[in-house]
Amino acid sequence: MDNKVTVDGLTFVPYLTRDEIATQVKRVAGEIREDLEGKSPLFLCVLNGAFMFAADLIREIGINDSRINFVRYASYEGTSSTGKIKEIMGLTEDIEGLDVVIVEDIVDTGLTASMMVADLKKRNPRSIMFATLLHKPESSKTGFKPDYVAFSIPPKFIIGYGLDLDGKVRNLKDIYVIKED
Ligand code: IMP
Ligand code: MG
Repeated sequence: MDNKVTVDGLTFVPYLTRDEIATQVKRVAGEIREDLEGKSPLFLCVLNGAFMFAADLIREIGINDSRINFVRYASYEGTSSTGKIKEIMGLTEDIEGLDVVIVEDIVDTGLTASMMVADLKKRNPRSIMFATLLHKPESSKTGFKPDYVAFSIPPKFIIGYGLDLDGKVRNLKDIYVIKED
């Protein structure tokens, strides 16, 4: 892990190591596997940020009867939420009667999450569960509570392991937090 990462003039310092991430991904995968026992779930990976978490989580859950699809929304510009959600790539597949597990990178205000769940409920799935790598409970504007959380964190801007700053640094294997001076 690098002791700092600089991107677009901002400095980030180490926050969660790849080992800590792997440990929590395993724990959450175990919880989901237990709850989905005997089912054939559909995992909905929320692009772009959740791609890395979803790849690790879904492999770790290890249900061969599960399927994977992708949706995409955007609300961020730079390091803060715009408060507006745009659906960039919606779901084309029929989810009626399915057990859906949404896989997201981070729940911040909860606006994206609550909008997504409300939208998907209209399509009559059998169940909807929400798994997120990170949750910033203090930023909540909606009271939205994810079913599975790998890490609860304070409301600071973070990058890496899929999470970006204006599209960059998603490649990092560890998670970094913005440096406060
Ligand atoms: P919400 O609708 O405010 O909950 O925002 C959720 C989305 O904002 C996430 O899917 C991320 O794409 C983005 N986001 C929120 N916090 C961060 C952060 O600390 N780093 C990078 N992206 C973030
Ligand atoms: Mg996202």
